[in-house]
Amino acid sequence: MADIFDRLVKNYGPIGQHRERAHGYFAFPKLDGEIGNKMKFRGKEMIVWSLNNYLGLANHPEVRKADTEATEIYGLASPMGARMMSGNSNFHEQLEAELAAFEQKEDAILMNYGYQGIMSTIDAICGRHDVIVYDAESHACIIDGLRLHPGHRYVYKHNDLEDCEKQLERATALIDKQGSGGILVITEGVFGMAGDQGKLTEIVALKSKYSFRLLVDDAHGFGTLGETGAGAGEAQGCQDGIDLYFSTFAKSMASIGAFLAGPRVIIDFIRYNIRSQIFAKSLPMPFVIGNLKRLDLLRTKPELKAKLWANALKLQKGLKERGFDIGKTDSVVTPIYMKGGVEEATAMVMDLRENYHIFCSIVVYPVIPKGHIIYRLIPTAAHTDEDIEQTLKAFSETKAKLVAGAYQVEAIPDMADAR
Ligand SMILES: Cc1ncc(COP(=O)(O)O)c(C=O)c1O
Repeated sequence: MADIFDRLVKNYGPIGQHRERAHGYFAFPKLDGEIGNKMKFRGKEMIVWSLNNYLGLANHPEVRKADTEATEIYGLASPMGARMMSGNSNFHEQLEAELAAFEQKEDAILMNYGYQGIMSTIDAICGRHDVIVYDAESHACIIDGLRLHPGHRYVYKHNDLEDCEKQLERATALIDKQGSGGILVITEGVFGMAGDQGKLTEIVALKSKYSFRLLVDDAHGFGTLGETGAGAGEAQGCQDGIDLYFSTFAKSMASIGAFLAGPRVIIDFIRYNIRSQIFAKSLPMPFVIGNLKRLDLLRTKPELKAKLWANALKLQKGLKERGFDIGKTDSVVTPIYMKGGVEEATAMVMDLRENYHIFCSIVVYPVIPKGHIIYRLIPTAAHTDEDIEQTLKAFSETKAKLVAGAYQVEAIPDMADAR
């Protein structure tokens, strides 16, 4: 019999295999200092483009005050137990009511994390005869939710409405044959890697032809899109057609937790049947009170979203003018597509960090095809014009070096922390 541990240490996985050179630098880096446009990395000040602190709320004085006061009053323990048993509070219910109203839905339910939340939502609402039709580029938490689904699931090519319709036809035919079950379509409001919005209006329009319910994970759209910041549904004028609207608090809200909003009877069903919440301790009070304050600022300070967009558009325009390929983004997420191997990508990142003091995230094979590199820049309301100018200059210079072959190295540079 094999020892499970033996197998694990033989293959650390696609990223783990580089850990001896990468740990603490390319993977698991430690950013120090106050969360903002500039932070310290290995003692050097960097312009940081990898935090989803879209509205700059992480260090907003009112947010810090609310977080601190709530922690002083309640600590991290309160309330104890799962919501259903002993962990409910007026603050939890107030936050749910405010989120529902903001999203123009009847009710909402809080969840401790987005990842668990969406997985568990899929598990709670879909039975074995139901069919899930989903976008091929859905986030890992949606994919893991699908793994819990005992019935059929049909994937459609990313944002390809023709293929979506084809899968809806297949799903409808299967359900007709089974004589039971329904269809759930799942997509994202904004796809976090490429920054393109899900085609929500078009998907909602398919409801006139097919019978299905729509679940949208709007992690990157909540707070950043739509006139009031209510997200991609509001931006596309189809919020009513989204049956279940989901977002994490980990991005615009710069916090922890998540919520799902929808019809009261369905949210109530979920409240009494969602395993990740029923069998887990409820969100601690400082998070709930801190999230109430964040939601208040998100609603009442439109200047934060305006600044975020001004920065994003300035960055995106500057990149396009300099000949960079930023793909199809129509959100603030700003990818830069380049060609090169994993080793070159890491050498370029090292140059960006060490000599230009720019800290951004990279995406390489196997997440994307071999030979491609995506630098993913996340603008926030906290960035300045100077940050943008410095970054544009750094990318122009390092791209020229990449094209000239200056980053062709044998292996990933050894930058690991001593362990
Ligand atoms: C689309 C999407 N859904 C869910 C999550 C997970 O949220 P959380 O960090 O609250 O678990 C993320 C976070 O990366 C995300 O991008």
